[in-house]
Amino acid sequence: MLDKTKPGWWRQAVLYQIYPKSFQDSNGDGIGDLEGIIRRLDYLEKLGVDGIWLSPVYASPQVDNGYDVADYCAIDPMFGDMEQMRTLIREARRRGISIIMDMVLNHTSDQHRWFREACKSRDNPYHDYYVWRDGIPGQPPNDMRATFGGAAWDWVPGVKQYYFHQFAPQQPDLNWENPEVRRSLYDMLLWWVEQGVEGFRLDVMDQIAKEPDRYITANGPRLHEYLREMSASVFQKSCLVTVGEAWGADPERARLYSAPDGSELSMVFQFEQMELDQQPGGEKWDLMDLPFVEMKRSFARWQTELHGRGWNSLFLDNHDLPRIVSRWGDDGKYRVQSAKMLATMLHGMQGTPYIYQGEELGMTNIRLPIEDYRDLETLNLYRTRIAAGVPEREVMASVYAKSRDNARTPMQWNDGPAAGFTTGTPWMPVNPNYREINAAAALADENSVFHYYRRLIALRKKLPVLVEGDFVLLAEDDPQIFAYLRRTGEEELLVVCSFGEEQTRYALPEGWENAEVLLSNYPEAVGSLFRPWEARMLYRKRTC
Ligand code: GLC
Ligand code: CA
Repeated sequence: MLDKTKPGWWRQAVLYQIYPKSFQDSNGDGIGDLEGIIRRLDYLEKLGVDGIWLSPVYASPQVDNGYDVADYCAIDPMFGDMEQMRTLIREARRRGISIIMDMVLNHTSDQHRWFREACKSRDNPYHDYYVWRDGIPGQPPNDMRATFGGAAWDWVPGVKQYYFHQFAPQQPDLNWENPEVRRSLYDMLLWWVEQGVEGFRLDVMDQIAKEPDRYITANGPRLHEYLREMSASVFQKSCLVTVGEAWGADPERARLYSAPDGSELSMVFQFEQMELDQQPGGEKWDLMDLPFVEMKRSFARWQTELHGRGWNSLFLDNHDLPRIVSRWGDDGKYRVQSAKMLATMLHGMQGTPYIYQGEELGMTNIRLPIEDYRDLETLNLYRTRIAAGVPEREVMASVYAKSRDNARTPMQWNDGPAAGFTTGTPWMPVNPNYREINAAAALADENSVFHYYRRLIALRKKLPVLVEGDFVLLAEDDPQIFAYLRRTGEEELLVVCSFGEEQTRYALPEGWENAEVLLSNYPEAVGSLFRPWEARMLYRKRTC
């Protein structure tokens, strides 16, 4: 168990993301809930994770699955109540697992009391909690667009003004320029710390300091000022782990966010590698093959530029991304090998790894008829592109590849009805491959993806080089091999991963031929021949 009273404990941690709606239902209504999570804590303890990033469970109309918060200090009845939340925090902590709450501080739901008050009149004390501009109906202040489609401005007749929203119209943006907004949010965060949570994941954090008159959404001029204020008012008061979602981060900005002095956050989620398999200038739906060599260089740049000067978060999956084994691996014949290979590639690096529910089982994407998708982003995309005359087949290809619902199908626990997720009808279809891919089968099989992740997590606890070592990219131009070294003064680690089903050769660097194989997805991993999707992690003490 990590000592969480030690500053920087999260540098050794591996965290696990739960998307509560799809994790475990306990009462047969087809929707995952807090009680369900409590029942699965033993499973997470077995895996060996140190914390749970819990996607939103707050009271919410669920327009964006809880990322539209109506009350930050109440649990949505669909998920349970505050008593169960406290039990979850306590029971998790007993197993060495911290609860990290997902905090949506850029916007609230339009059903939040603040927004309902704000709409009543211009001199209501809450009016200035949101971003308003004058205008006339039909003529928004400018032509900014919202992320989920449509204009970023909506008219409220009662106050004869437009409010600004970067996401759905039901997600009005908070006005961070108002010190009272910031104070209210910090008080709320402190209240959660009192309840025993040990960290926060901050939703679209780089978009809080928006200046719509200047078309600024991400990285607004006052962003770092706000973060430092929030950090001093909340985060630095306890040894919290904090991770900000920052689609617009580059390594230079990430060094500010994750400065070792703790003045802002512990780390950020950046998405540079996750945006490589889309056409330049296009959207994620505009598909392109992964530029492999560029992907390696991108990881290497982040590893090097943050080493000693910041901190990386490591992830390939989350609730907004398709399943990595379907995306960069092979979800058919080599599903198990490629899932393990991708895990090795990521968990060998410096940073805090995140595992998204089901990733540890090698869960895959799903293909559904469009009526069965639930995600508003996917449905908006479908409507817009079909209306624009894009052929159905092409639109569906984008949906199959990139829809957020790929990651939101219910967790596959066993080969029983609804994969053991619910005794009722699941809110979203279960992937039909659950008979083969499920936690019960994985637990029983020593060679499963699950046990491979378990070993990777255990290694991070054992080997300082995994936590502290620097990073050197090898075979930079090789079109199939991703190889790198990690080094401290005492130890060295060599990671070699083959991205593809063709056999290939890679001569290990000199002196590594007889090094200890810590982990591999093939038995007898020796020599220079690399089999389909092979991965090896080698170790040696450094000699001078
Ligand atoms: C973040 C969340 C995503 C949500 C959006 C708006 O990107 O991860 O799920 O839709 O913010 O809150
Ligand atoms: Ca339920």
